[in-house]
Amino acid sequence: MTVHINAQKGDIAKTILLPGDPLRAKYIAETFLTDIVCYNTVRNMLGYTGVWNGRRVSVQGSGMGMPSIGIYSHELITEYGVEQLIRVGSCGSFQENVGIRDVILGISASTNSRYAHQYNLPGTYAPTASFELVEKAKSAADQLNIPVHVGNILSSDIFYDANPEAWKKWAGMGVLAVEMEAAALYMNAAFLGAKALAILTVSDSLVTHMATTSEEREKTFADMIKIALTLA
Ligand code: HPA
Repeated sequence: MTVHINAQKGDIAKTILLPGDPLRAKYIAETFLTDIVCYNTVRNMLGYTGVWNGRRVSVQGSGMGMPSIGIYSHELITEYGVEQLIRVGSCGSFQENVGIRDVILGISASTNSRYAHQYNLPGTYAPTASFELVEKAKSAADQLNIPVHVGNILSSDIFYDANPEAWKKWAGMGVLAVEMEAAALYMNAAFLGAKALAILTVSDSLVTHMATTSEEREKTFADMIKIALTLA
């Protein structure tokens, strides 16, 4: 057991899906997996292990923001031996050609967070996804006929920015969309020797101010989960 996860060693699979919302984790487990066992209830950050296509896979809430996913991913890797961590979440589009409901594979995650300062690097670190997972996810998406954007995303510490125009600077650098967790996940995976990838569905657009309905979110959410599960 760790401070935040009351599971035994061996309760958690080598591959885990990490939605921000613990109730999403419950929904994913109940909808896509069989033989599910709930291994964590601490702070209601529900975690389940089950079976998909004959393969063992876990799914757990990460909470919102880099501090929260930083805690869970650290404990999952160091205490439970998790090897592949796949964030499945929503994001806000920065680009005209990235529409609501589209799916994004975040090959890299720029950030306005200080998370990397803990490593005392003599420069600016580039948080990066596992190429192996990116490649597998892209070919799974192609096989499933799900179009995906592949590129740089922004992991922001700020949802309600005092400067509502700040995102345009990132957009000008070709960043596809904003979310709040991937950069810390990629850094923990790099530092601790695991593989990580963020697969995102666009829930809203900062360009057009459009947002998905809950019905649309469910449909596109399923596309993202189908891609993620092939990585198990
Ligand atoms: N900002 C940050 N995270 C998000 C957003 C956003 O606009 N949309 C979905 N996740």
